[in-house]
Amino acid sequence: MTAPDPRDPLGLRNDAPILAAWLDFSRQAEAGELIPMGTPGHKQLQDLVGTVVAGDAPFYGGLDTIKHADHLRRDGEARAAALWGADWCRFSVAGSTHGNQALALAVGEPGQKVIINRILHRSLLLGLVLAGLQPVWVQSEIDVASGLPAGVSVRAVREALAAHPDACAVFLGDPTYVGTISDLPSHARAAHEAGVPLIVDAAWAAHLGFHPDVPPHAIAAGADGMVISAHKALPAYTQGALVLARTERLSRSRLDRAFDATHTTSPTGSILASIDAARALLARDGVELSDRLLRGVAAARDRLREVPGLDVLDGPGVEPTKLVVLLAGTGANGNLVEADLIAAGMAVEMGDRDTIIAIPTVADDEERIAKFTETLIASVEARRGDARHPVPAAAWTVRPQTVLAPREAFFAANETVPADAAIGRVSAELIAPYPPGVPVLAPGELITSEAVEALREVAADGGRIAYAADPTLATFQVLTG
Ligand SMILES: Cc1ncc(COP(=O)(O)O)c(C=O)c1O
Repeated sequence: MTAPDPRDPLGLRNDAPILAAWLDFSRQAEAGELIPMGTPGHKQLQDLVGTVVAGDAPFYGGLDTIKHADHLRRDGEARAAALWGADWCRFSVAGSTHGNQALALAVGEPGQKVIINRILHRSLLLGLVLAGLQPVWVQSEIDVASGLPAGVSVRAVREALAAHPDACAVFLGDPTYVGTISDLPSHARAAHEAGVPLIVDAAWAAHLGFHPDVPPHAIAAGADGMVISAHKALPAYTQGALVLARTERLSRSRLDRAFDATHTTSPTGSILASIDAARALLARDGVELSDRLLRGVAAARDRLREVPGLDVLDGPGVEPTKLVVLLAGTGANGNLVEADLIAAGMAVEMGDRDTIIAIPTVADDEERIAKFTETLIASVEARRGDARHPVPAAAWTVRPQTVLAPREAFFAANETVPADAAIGRVSAELIAPYPPGVPVLAPGELITSEAVEALREVAADGGRIAYAADPTLATFQVLTG
């Protein structure tokens, strides 16, 4: 019997061809058996920049030859397509950002409309810029008790489809950033009855669909295309993502063209191998790992609810593995709680005044989740204040007035003006508090005093104002004329 390879402790390589190729290549590299005369320039040596390049292996010309590696890639991707019930799949080393943009480029033609929810990630909005698509916005309902967005109602999407019969697709972000979910099977029916595909940005949902107590993933729910970040919910390298599709309503060749148009020609094999490994793990152990995660999160939610004033997002409209903690009833400021957690080595996905969002994954056992939960509670107790009503964040409440299509505005002549003079003008830039990365202003949208005020509040609270030419918000870039 051969001894288990410590570099593959669960023995995933038998069902993971890209992982197996990476294990073989990196063993040779570590043994100093290679003198490569191609890229990458570190040549598998660590004597110049050190171990920062350890484990890096080019996919083309490393895991397989430049001429033949596509066979290996297709093998790994076909296994993922089969697992998720798709008939087309590509692995990306550029995150769901790239996946969203590839899917935007895979539908319709410049000038066509898409029905799309406004609390979308900025990557999808820039996908609209790239593809020249015209958004028809649908809004999420805001839950008054939590100040957080729910899923998108099917009625809103049906009405938008009826009002815009020329739309070429429906795009939804689901689950939302806060883990709320829409009725995807009904959305799929609505889109299909209108003769258009349903595309889902499921960046946070790579783990869904592999346990009876978690919602089905978007493809199983009837979507035609979906993007998932393997690096968010699965144990894959940062940047690893999958784009999956069923090709009844989407063209396979167009999907490939769209994907390749915006992907690097030099993907690192390490990221691709980690996606392959995560897929093999999910296929084999998905039920057990989901079970452990569900137990850990359920216990954490119960424990947090015992603390006076503290609440968690829960219930049928919420995916059960996310930990969205509602602080308003304790009076604690989430920005300070987040700082305590960072100091304790337990950085969370998001913290704003009223909310802490933690992302336990299949890598976390119950003990780790419980330890995090107690640290969070200790911080909340130390930071207690007067209970308050939650105020929905700017990202969730934005009601844009689109004056010009995002693509036209992106390329239009613009100028920089002081903030007060910007109100009533049309934005040339995309500005998103990050997290959650949902644009409060996008190219082509009217700059309102509400939007400027909301952004200023985020900045005053210590939030990051991302993608703005002037993150201090003293000036804005507006269209000329
Ligand atoms: C809803 C949503 N879609 C897409 C993305 C982009 O994902 P990635 O970081 O994998 O590029 C994010 C990132 O946080 C996101 O929240």
